Amino acid sequence: MSQQEPSTTDAGAPAVAAVVVLAAGQGTRMRSATPKVLHALGGRSMLGHVLAACEPLGAATTVVVVGSGRDQVEAHLAEVAPAALPVVQEEQRGSGHAAQVALAAVPEVEGPVLLVNGDAPLLRVETVTDLVAEHVRAGNALTVLTAEVDDPTGLGRIVRDGSGAVTAIVEQRDATPGQRAIREINAGVYVGDAAALRSGLSRISADNDQGELYVTDVLGLLVADGAPVGGARAVDADDVLGCNDRRELAARRRTLNDRVLDRLMVEGVTVVDPATTWVDVTVTVERDAVLEPGTHLKGTTSVASGAVVGPDTTLVDCTVEAGASVVRSHCLGAVVGPEATVGPFSYLRPGTRLAAGAKVGAFVEVKNTQVGEGSKVPHLSYVGDATIGRGANVGAATVFVNYDGVDKHRTTIGDHVRIGSDTMLVAPVTVGDGAYTAAGSVITDDVPPGAMGVARARQRNVGGWVRRRRPGTPAAEAAAAAESRAEASGDPGADHDS
Ligand code: UD1
Ligand code: CA
Repeated sequence: MSQQEPSTTDAGAPAVAAVVVLAAGQGTRMRSATPKVLHALGGRSMLGHVLAACEPLGAATTVVVVGSGRDQVEAHLAEVAPAALPVVQEEQRGSGHAAQVALAAVPEVEGPVLLVNGDAPLLRVETVTDLVAEHVRAGNALTVLTAEVDDPTGLGRIVRDGSGAVTAIVEQRDATPGQRAIREINAGVYVGDAAALRSGLSRISADNDQGELYVTDVLGLLVADGAPVGGARAVDADDVLGCNDRRELAARRRTLNDRVLDRLMVEGVTVVDPATTWVDVTVTVERDAVLEPGTHLKGTTSVASGAVVGPDTTLVDCTVEAGASVVRSHCLGAVVGPEATVGPFSYLRPGTRLAAGAKVGAFVEVKNTQVGEGSKVPHLSYVGDATIGRGANVGAATVFVNYDGVDKHRTTIGDHVRIGSDTMLVAPVTVGDGAYTAAGSVITDDVPPGAMGVARARQRNVGGWVRRRRPGTPAAEAAAAAESRAEASGDPGADHDS
């Protein structure tokens, strides 16, 4: 056993002194301008998933080794894990070299260190904490996470002796045929005592098929030292799957999504068609919500109890409150209030806030607008930069003309206003409480409370125009027939100027 009492995190998991993520590799097989660890699945980058899995270990120091695409990776880290320390591995000489560079950057670190590959996006908190717990329990110098897999192709094999003790990790390309038959593999996740790791890493060599420095060789060196070394099997072999090309990325994304949907269903969410429903790990959905087929929930989206989303709907960073429904729509940064309805075919953009019972209907785009309680924008409208009161109705094909080519301006619509169909509301403009606008108006001036705003030319009918100017057409024939019917019935008909 280690001499000191192991410390624990607030959550009771054993703590580590440092987390080191190896993320400098090129990821050639992704064939991408984006560094491999920045490819995203389930709402986070691969690197983000690894960091999230390690977060509860409460490490005072988190080091991320960067190299290939380092500017991009560093910028991403600044955003998702500003406390992490990026350490540059100038030349990618192998995972062991990356670990050397990392530990050299934090010479003060002692005690247990978690070393993890940056391309293990399915790693879970429980798996990592179990590994650390086993390491501490066994009093090991080094403990490696392993898994039994059906197809170990390309992975490092765990070699055990007759007594079952782990003696080495052998890469596939350096393995004997007998070793290749081993199905227990190295997950690329290790906990080691900092001093033991430093000692082992100082002695690794590039004496292998790739001519690289392998972190995995540390294990055999420590075994030769007589230090206590162990392997801990992952409960779920999925957790340890790496991600080296786009096919594996798609497969990992599927697995991650299945896990999220599984959890939601256990918690009481109806997922009508798990095959076509995609939910980020960062999303929350309450019980008795219904996700119809083709639903994509992303980012910080939350869906409250009894709400129905879908079919064929994408919500990014949206809040859908209890009992609301969003059907066949695309929404970004919007708040859909309780019992409000959206869609089909609505486009809600950032800053849209629908109060309780509000309605946004077909072919309506809304941006940076508050729609008051029970107010409706049912059809074919653009609503930008507006405040709409309670109980108002915005007629079909209304446009909130918010942009003068240089600046954006706001429109204010009072309570219980009736905006006639095809109204242009030229902002900045205010329509007072209880006011109406006439259909087809171009409203450039404020409409006082209770007034009817009319802003359109009067209609004039030019009688007989079709007969004179479009003779012989079906329209002229129809008009002539109507005239003779009118004459027969003694009605003067339409053939008069008005
Ligand atoms: C590695 C392990 C293998 C294990 C597998 C699990 C080694 C030698 N082999 O193989 O036993 O089964 O992971 O997925 O470690 N990296 C750097 N700098 C470098 C080289 C790599 O930071 O110079 C990083 C990579 O970004 C990656 C990790 O180290 O996150 C592992 O490197 P990779 O090339 O992916 O190793 P594998 O062949 O997958
Ligand atoms: Ca890998």
